[in-house]
Amino acid sequence: AALAPVARTLGGKHLLVTSGPTHEPIDPVRYIANRSSGAQGTAIGAALAERGARVTFVTGPASVPPPSGVEVIRVETAGEMLAAVQAALPADAAVMAAAVADWHVVSASGQKLKKDGGGPPTLALAQNPDILAAVAGLGESRPRLVVGFAAETENVLEHARAKRLRKGCDWIVANDVSSATGIMGGTENAVTLITAGGEEAWERMGKDAVAARLADRIAQALA
Ligand code: CTP
Ligand code: CA
Repeated sequence: AALAPVARTLGGKHLLVTSGPTHEPIDPVRYIANRSSGAQGTAIGAALAERGARVTFVTGPASVPPPSGVEVIRVETAGEMLAAVQAALPADAAVMAAAVADWHVVSASGQKLKKDGGGPPTLALAQNPDILAAVAGLGESRPRLVVGFAAETENVLEHARAKRLRKGCDWIVANDVSSATGIMGGTENAVTLITAGGEEAWERMGKDAVAARLADRIAQALA
């Protein structure tokens, strides 16, 4: 049977989504990365666009193609992602689904590092800017609704609750990304939506279904 069309509950709204991993260069041919495929962020971008939102989709080097019907802005590093997010504001709501690298290499080499007999190189790391906290902490230009993710491998809810408060975002979508769950890089997700008003554990479902439900909640919140 044909699926019923989705109501355009986000018509006239500008939604900002971050997605995918970031890559932090070590030298021109090497980088630090993580296992994010970008699948959940891509599904969210698609669900928001399907509901009529204008979506700015800022993505790191993901392994899945970006959704159609969104404005795609491709970045590589966390620093570039922050700049792209700032340039995309204002927005009615922001959903930060990217798995932003926490650290970058302080002085990435301009030339390929070589085995020069002196032993392996020592990489000095520095912390990346927190894009979610930066957006949540904006004054006048803060999106009305700021949604973050908390990818955890243990004590998921405690860490996620603390993260919501620390970052100043409105909602946190908490998920367990320990390897046994198969969530990172997989097609399903099991999340708990944490808001100021309470917590909802959603049953494990496809990342598309998580995205649809989240998009519907966002539409209600912005209505
Ligand atoms: N995030 C971000 N910028 C960063 C790090 C994280 O915008 N530099 C966002 C992610 O997109 C996600 C949320 O913050 O929405 C939580 O990311 P997570 O990696 O779980 O939290 P961290 O604050 O980096 O804490 P840690 O990795 O130490 O648990
Ligand atoms: Ca992190």
